[in-house]
Amino acid sequence: MEAKIAVIRGDGIGPEIVDAAIGCLDAVARRFGHTFHYSFPIMGGAAIDSTGVPLPQETIDECKRSDAVLLGAVGGPKWDNLAGHLRPEKGLLGLRSALGLYANVRPALLYEQLKGDSPLKPAIAKKGINLVVVRELTGGIYFGPRGFRSGKNGQEAFDTEVYTIPEIERIAKIAFDVAMGRRKKVTSVDKANVLETSRLWRATVTRVAESYPEVKLEHMLVDNCAMQLIKDPSQFDVLLCPNMFGDILSDEAAMLTGSIGLLPSSSLGAGKLGLYEPIHGSAPDIAGTDTANPIATILAAAMMLSSSLGLVTETAALEKAINTILSKGYRTPDICSMGTKKVSCSKMGELIALEVLNAK
Ligand code: IPM
Ligand code: MG
Repeated sequence: MEAKIAVIRGDGIGPEIVDAAIGCLDAVARRFGHTFHYSFPIMGGAAIDSTGVPLPQETIDECKRSDAVLLGAVGGPKWDNLAGHLRPEKGLLGLRSALGLYANVRPALLYEQLKGDSPLKPAIAKKGINLVVVRELTGGIYFGPRGFRSGKNGQEAFDTEVYTIPEIERIAKIAFDVAMGRRKKVTSVDKANVLETSRLWRATVTRVAESYPEVKLEHMLVDNCAMQLIKDPSQFDVLLCPNMFGDILSDEAAMLTGSIGLLPSSSLGAGKLGLYEPIHGSAPDIAGTDTANPIATILAAAMMLSSSLGLVTETAALEKAINTILSKGYRTPDICSMGTKKVSCSKMGELIALEVLNAK
């Protein structure tokens, strides 16, 4: 097949991890006889530097013209002092919103080979982690009314959490659909003992659940969920979360699997167009050193192949190649321990790409 992929390299380690992922996509294209056409629109800090804004209209247009968007990461200290609406992160939020990508799917899997890298006690890690965070992505406190104003004690700032019933319904349906293809359990995360939005969330999710009688639904307060993730993550199948809770819990889940450099994410909307990115940030402290872990981005590219391009066998081939390279003991510094072979970001990309080409 021919597909058009918009690639946003981004800032910090973004270009390094994305280049490693492109090498793997090229290997998939060669092995399976596809042609991927890449374009390289800019967003985030790179876009601020060259156009003055974090999300140029041309980037939105180019992404809409594409079959999928692959993104590295955005942001960095250089742009930290800009006003909120001009920060690199605003570009990412604006892009998710402009493309209508309301459903963020973040699978956290503890690889057998990396069990020793999990910060969990061996007895807990032994039970495994295989969960998916389904995070609402275009609503909640990230997008509600906000600002600065003067109050009786001087300047105040406010951010508002707003959720509508249709917004909750559509993300809940995604979570239940995902659960139907897995272990059929949804844990809906909220703070219903305090927040009105959470009470609406809980009532709405409970109603959506009626259409999925095979799926077991439980509700869990977010603070308890943060604790349960450390106590026994094997209890979770699908975690359905409002925007900010999903942001926080997905970082926690990622670290439990050994490194934040391992978790991919797909952001989907009503159509086939999706945005695929690692869940981690731009890691400015190691940018340019060729030491980042590209696996989260390569896994994101793998998700893209099946979710947006319909290439299911190709996704499996790429995931298998990652597995094989980990089994052979290759590790980037973040997951390197005694007895493993330390490789750079680019080398890890090359090894996985070669494995895609050579695997039977
Ligand atoms: C993520 C990131 C973003 C988010 C930031 C960079 C705006 O943390 O994708 O998890 O909060 O959504
Ligand atoms: Mg985050």
